[in-house]
Amino acid sequence: MRMVELIEKKRDGGELTTEEIRFIVEGYTDGRIPDYQVSAWAMAVFFRDMTDRERADLTMAMVESGETIDLSDIEGVKVDKHSTGGVGDTTTLVLAPLVAAAGVPVAKMSGRGLGHTGGTIDKLEAIPGFHVELTREEFARRVNESSIAVIGQSGNLTPADKKLYALRDVTATIESIPLIASSIMSKKIAAGADAIVLDVKTGAGAFMKDEQDARRLAAAMVAIGNQVGRKTMAVISDMSQPLGLAIGNALEVREAIDTLRGEGPDDLRELCLALGSQMVYLGGAAGSIEEAEALLKELLASGKALDKFKEFIANQGGDPAVVDDPDLLPAAPYRIELPARESGFVSGMTADAIGTAAMILGAGRATKESEIDLSVGIVLRKKIGDAVQAGESLATIHAATEQVGDVLERLNAAIEIAPSAQAPELVRGIVTE
Ligand code: URA
Ligand code: CA
Repeated sequence: MRMVELIEKKRDGGELTTEEIRFIVEGYTDGRIPDYQVSAWAMAVFFRDMTDRERADLTMAMVESGETIDLSDIEGVKVDKHSTGGVGDTTTLVLAPLVAAAGVPVAKMSGRGLGHTGGTIDKLEAIPGFHVELTREEFARRVNESSIAVIGQSGNLTPADKKLYALRDVTATIESIPLIASSIMSKKIAAGADAIVLDVKTGAGAFMKDEQDARRLAAAMVAIGNQVGRKTMAVISDMSQPLGLAIGNALEVREAIDTLRGEGPDDLRELCLALGSQMVYLGGAAGSIEEAEALLKELLASGKALDKFKEFIANQGGDPAVVDDPDLLPAAPYRIELPARESGFVSGMTADAIGTAAMILGAGRATKESEIDLSVGIVLRKKIGDAVQAGESLATIHAATEQVGDVLERLNAAIEIAPSAQAPELVRGIVTE
């Protein structure tokens, strides 16, 4: 096989065979095929697209390019959730104990965050004592006994994706549905997921700004999952503004506790129920999505989801008392309000700009080496569609210093006020097959 012929075939709109796709992925991973040929191929894919079969083959070739996690020592259907990236996205902290309370095993491998706010592990580490340094055996035992455990990411998963993603980044080939879909799905499958629930974000501040593109990406990932034997469903959700009110690690833990208590922000609860229902259905703990949703509501109302969160925290060395007394979480020394410049209705809250403001406070990492401050962040007091009076606070900044001029300026630029505005619909679509 010669790479130049495969580039030519794709350039002219042909369909590559399973062997041809494997040849490209293996050859690129081990360095036999150079960057310039793979760039030309990626650009041909960008213009010519891939069939469903090619997409599934590309995904599995990337899975097989490195190590894979074997979760067969954990009983039950391992359902994983993936979000295409949001700001203040507290869903994982709520969903993990909620879904575990329904009896679906949550065997979560998580990473630390880069940019915006921390990752799930950073957020959990805001709980005094909590750690993710479990042995592989301990991890499996915890999930089998308590239905929930979180461990740090390890192993050389999907090296082909790492290399291809870096190449796409500098060759203007990121924005290709088959390449994005296979990239995301390969990572979830390599991490051991039997079934996958996707939260595809759309709107200003999301990776997929356009709703039509978000729908196409969701459909592409669901099709890949189902072709390779991993039942997959997706929710398309709004990210024109941050989810919930809190952005920042300890602040989001507090928000998750409120939500598990049934007192959190409506949008966060709604999205957790939509994603959680799909997880519980795919995990086999309910016969339909509707039945799953009713079960989750019952687990929230009865306090069983909150109890599961306590058990999970205690299992991993954390202080479960934070659940009843969130004041035990780290708190920032300064609280500074952001007054509205004029009266009207909040009409815009660009999520990524607000995420960047939280990062500058220290809630997220500018580079992989940055230290983060788990206590700082932003708590919104208004969301899109809310009425506001001039001088009324739009948000509270939790900071380590009083010098937050830059953050105030950024937030002012990110939040728009207009004579009228309507709250956006949160759940924009559901893809189940
Ligand atoms: N996120 C990924 O993991 N892969 C892509 O290709 C794009 C976004
Ligand atoms: Ca939030």
